Amino acid sequence: MTRRLEGRVAIVTGAGRGIGRGVAKLLAAEGASVVVNDFGVNVDGSAPSSGPAAEVAEEIRAAGGKAVPNFDTVATVEGGENMLKMALDNFGRLDILVNVAGILRDRMIFNMSEQEWDDVIAVHLKGHYCTTKPAAVLMRQQRYGRIINFSSISGLGGLPGQSNYGAAKAGIAGFTRVVARDLGRYGVTCNAIAPGASTRMTATIPTNTAQLRAKSGTAPVAPPPRPRTSTVPDMREPEYVAPMTVFLACDEAWNINGKVFYVAGGRVSLAHEEAPWRQISKPGMWTIDELRDLVPSQLLYDVRNPAPPPPDLDIPGRPATPAP
Ligand SMILES: NC(=O)c1ccc[n+]([C@@H]2O[C@H](COP(=O)([O-])OP(=O)(O)OC[C@H]3O[C@@H](n4cnc5c(N)ncnc54)[C@H](O)[C@@H]3O)[C@@H](O)[C@H]2O)c1
Repeated sequence: MTRRLEGRVAIVTGAGRGIGRGVAKLLAAEGASVVVNDFGVNVDGSAPSSGPAAEVAEEIRAAGGKAVPNFDTVATVEGGENMLKMALDNFGRLDILVNVAGILRDRMIFNMSEQEWDDVIAVHLKGHYCTTKPAAVLMRQQRYGRIINFSSISGLGGLPGQSNYGAAKAGIAGFTRVVARDLGRYGVTCNAIAPGASTRMTATIPTNTAQLRAKSGTAPVAPPPRPRTSTVPDMREPEYVAPMTVFLACDEAWNINGKVFYVAGGRVSLAHEEAPWRQISKPGMWTIDELRDLVPSQLLYDVRNPAPPPPDLDIPGRPATPAP
């Protein structure tokens, strides 16, 4: 196997489990020395432990690779700086930063506590800042670097019950596009992946609004999914996200910058960038009556409401359905 990353040094956050573990192992297999960071927490961010990071670092070393474990949280500036220090102390440089660490505290917005909001924003959105800031200082000086962030369909498309997580993940996509523009001129790229993989994290997510409503007792509980009987390997195993992540860390990806890719199983898709799509315009100021007529009929004529009110709810403004 070609060792494309021989001599390179990487930090992977949240590398003790799931997607991060697969990324750390593939980076090491390609010759990179890896700081395997993981705070070792439950999916909700509780009960830190050193076990997961230590195990993955040991697996890499047992396979002949170079790795050291790091047990800091990404949610503090001190944690991010410690990871960089560890890379420099142990391997003398830093070339690649992969921000994978994450937690979930799902709750419909009307039930979400301030703590649930703050904790998820702290790990995902601030966590990306805490590791990227010190890495960016160094990468700018050395005129080389690869930063790969982790966003989500939850933020880019919207999933119910995840306003904290979705806001953080949409923020990470925005962060990626801006950091790419800050650092591109210094030979540093910054891209993001919105992954899909079966991990303990996805095992906890109700898949649709009906399930969330069921959970909160407002609708009947859906039947559990049928057990998988096929012996074909699961195409959504977390390791499937690693090759695209590692490709973005390679020298050959020097001209890919500020992009978000969806990666799940054998699929890699380029995310559409948010930009004005259709427009109505006039020389003066719109009246509300004009907008009432033109927004539904011209801007939104074939665009569906992702969460329409049920037909039996009395909605002011909704035209009465003609009797059959
Ligand atoms: N699995 C998916 O389908 C999916 C979908 C969209 C986005 N993502 C994102 O991909 C990333 C990886 O998810 P996963 O499914 O592998 O989850 P996972 O729970 O298997 O792994 C996440 C790891 O992050 C670690 N972690 C949590 N908080 C931390 C902190 N403060 N500091 C350092 N480490 C911390 C955990 O201990 C855990 O080992 C996450 O950012 C997640 O939001 C995953």
